[in-house]
Parts: sequence; C-alpha cells; structure tokens
Amino acid sequence: LGAPAVDIGKLHKDTGYFTFDPGFVSTASCRSAITYIDGDAGVLLYRGYPIEQLAAKSSFLEVAYLLINGELPTAKEFESFTDEVTHHTMMHEALKSFLNGFRHDAHPMAMLCGSVASLSAFYHDSLDMADPAQRRLAAIRLIAKVPTLASAAYRYSIGWPIRYPRNNLEYVTRFLHMMFEVPSEPLELNPVVAKALDLLFILHADHEQNASTSTVRLVGSTGANPYACVAAGIAALWGPAHGGANEAVLEMLQEIGTANNVESAVARAKDKNSGFRLMGFGHRVYKNFDPRAKIIREMTHKVLGELGVDDPLLEVALKLEEAALKDDYFVQRKLYPNVDFYSGIIYKALKIPTEMFTVMFALARTAGWVAHWLEQQVDPDQKIGRPRQVYTGATERDYVAMDKR
Ligand code: ACO
Repeated sequence: LGAPAVDIGKLHKDTGYFTFDPGFVSTASCRSAITYIDGDAGVLLYRGYPIEQLAAKSSFLEVAYLLINGELPTAKEFESFTDEVTHHTMMHEALKSFLNGFRHDAHPMAMLCGSVASLSAFYHDSLDMADPAQRRLAAIRLIAKVPTLASAAYRYSIGWPIRYPRNNLEYVTRFLHMMFEVPSEPLELNPVVAKALDLLFILHADHEQNASTSTVRLVGSTGANPYACVAAGIAALWGPAHGGANEAVLEMLQEIGTANNVESAVARAKDKNSGFRLMGFGHRVYKNFDPRAKIIREMTHKVLGELGVDDPLLEVALKLEEAALKDDYFVQRKLYPNVDFYSGIIYKALKIPTEMFTVMFALARTAGWVAHWLEQQVDPDQKIGRPRQVYTGATERDYVAMDKR
C-alpha cells in the first residue's frame, strides 16, 4: 500500500542535500501502521478496515481500541477496555478550580487545550515515558477524561455547574449527560442522538499525519509527556484550515443565509482577492470525494429526518455543494466537500452549540492522537523532529552601535 517514498535521510547523509517542502506536501515524517488514505480513490482504512464498515458496524470506543491496539477486540477484551476507560472518567477535584480561573466567556477550545496540558500537573504516575504501563495509563486517561473536561469547559462557558461523569452510562451517552441540563426529553436517552454522535466520533477518530497528529508526533519526538503532546494537538486542531473548519462552515452557511445567495458565495470563493474560501471544501490529501463526507452527507438527511428537524441551512449546503461541483474552478482544483462540510449541520441538529464543534472533533481525535503517540514511542526510527529551512535573511554583517544607525 502507498506511493513510493525516497529515503531523503540517506541522501542527506551521503550528499548533504535536503528538500524544500513547505507544508510538507511531499514529505513522509514517519512510518505508521494505523491509518491508510488513498486520496485519489477516496479510500480511508483504520488498521485495514474500511471506514464505511466501521461506521456501519462499530462503536467509537471499539474504534479507539482498534487504533491503539491494532486489532479489533474480542468481547472480553472490549469489556476490560471499557471498564478501564470508565474507571478513569473522573477529573481531579482541583481541576475544577483550574477551570474556574478562566474568564467566564473563554472559548471551550482554549479551556480544553489548557486543561488537557494541565493533566501532567495532576497525574504524576503516568509521566515516565520509558514505562509501557505508564504510557498506556496516560493513553487511557486521555480517552476517558477529555469528554469530562470538554463538557466541563462548555458548562463553565455558559455559567452552569460542572456535572460529574455518570459511570453507569456508555461513553457517548455519558458525555451527553455531562453536557446538557436535563431537558424535557433527556438527550442522552435519545438513541438517534447517541448513535449520530458515536458515528461522528468514529469518522473523526484518526486521519494519519494531519496537522494536529503531526504536531502531537513532533512534540512527542522531544520526549514530552503525552498530556502536553495532546494539548499541542488540540491547539493545532483549533485553526480554521483544520478542525476549526466545522465551526467556520456553519458560520459561512448562516452568512449565506438562503439558497438564492449561493451563486454569489461561489463567485466570491473563486476571487482570490476576496479572502473568502468555501469552508468545508478541499483537502490536502483527498483529490476525490472525502469518504467521510459521503457518510456524513447521508447521515445528515437521516438524522434531521429522525429528529424532525427542518433546518434551512441544509438546503443552502446542498445548493452550495451542487453549485461548486459543477463549477470549473472547483472541478479543476479537485475541491470536494470534506468531513467538516456537513458535520456542523448534524451537530446543530443534536443541539451541540457552535463553539463546541471543534471540541467534539478534539474529543474523537484524541483516540488517534494517543494511538500515534504510543506507536511513536516504540518506533526504532524515531528521532527528534527538526526540519531544516532555506535561509533568506541578510548575509553576515557587523554590529552597528545604536547612535550610528
Ligand atoms: N475555496 C476556494 N478555493 C480553494 C479552497 C476553498 N475551500 N481550498 C483550496 N482552494 C484553492 C486554492 O486557492 C488553490 O488555488 P490555486 O491553485 O489557484 O492557487 C488551490 O485550491 C489549492 O489550494 P491549497 O490551499 O494550495 O491546498 P492545500 O492542500 O494547501 O489546502 C485546505 C487544503 C487547507 C483544506 C484548503 O482546501 C482549505 O483552506 N479549505 C477550507 C478549509 C477547510 O475546509 N478545512 C478543513 C480541512 S479537513 C480537516 O482538517 C478535517
């Protein structure tokens, strides 16, 4: 599987040459056995399993197990993994004071990033990177605690008291219970909501060396602890060119407002001087339909139908997709809807607030980040990540005293 790769490291040793590759468009930074993407064919495999099959048959926690361990679990293995994760869902009580220190209107991504980094100040028994048991404990803790921290960040941002994880609930329903005030029909008891969220988490769980995972690996290459590495991944994910796109898509659809304004939005996106791009379109690797977008597109209709939600933004999204897919500009550049194009509409239907969209992504991607971090720790090729540069500054010159400048 995969395109041929040239060992530039050897070429560098032999000749001193190095590559100039801004954005790492043609650089493989590591070997990995976790996720495979064929961007031209629109194929995505987790540990060899097609995303379509996992989306139809698996659950997020099972996928997390698969990403970390390399194989699907037996019933006994899954039970024990679920117990382990459930055992670690609580957060240290002092973390509440830590969260209380944020400004009342802080973005939940800012709080998630800070609080995940702070886990290294609370859990000293999982910081020895040389010990496989401690590495595994840190990985489990991250998968278990990120939903607790994510919901706590949200509740703090709207002035609600934090809710403790209810460990008789399953992973996704527990998260829903922590997020929301008890409404007339508790969301965690609505199987459509839980199933949709579980599916979104599966689709977002890993995507090989994307910007945030590469960041986790770059920080991991220095020997930093996994909490710090994942916090760095969360920071990278926040940008609108990456995970922040799901929030940006919904804002864009709201700004476009009605299907009548779609043509002018497409025209604006084609104008390089407008500074406007169609959010949720394009991908560094997929030059064909993002297979996750296909699944989400189908699911959007189903979820909205089942929940009885009639969202006019869906019509705007469909018209936008249709207009872009027959426009030469988008066709020639192979710009298709990506995973984030429809996910916002589903999150909205599930009553997840817009500022939590990227947090949802981070929650799911934590499984991938820890799987990559664990893989990296035992990689015999592992070296500190240290790119080179092509220097464009001044040639050597002498210092000039301030009064002579
Ligand atoms: N709208 C309009 N034009 C676009 C878009 C877009 N969404 N995306 C790319 N283009 C154009 C670029 O202007 C460029 O045109 P040119 O060749 O005439 O200069 C060409 O398509 C290639 O774009 P690049 O930016 O070079 O492609 P790159 O691989 O570096 O970027 C990216 C990929 C960041 C995803 C880009 O397509 C984009 O900004 N999309 C919108 C944001 C988004 O949806 N991000 C989520 C990505 S998926 C994820 O992270 C989960």
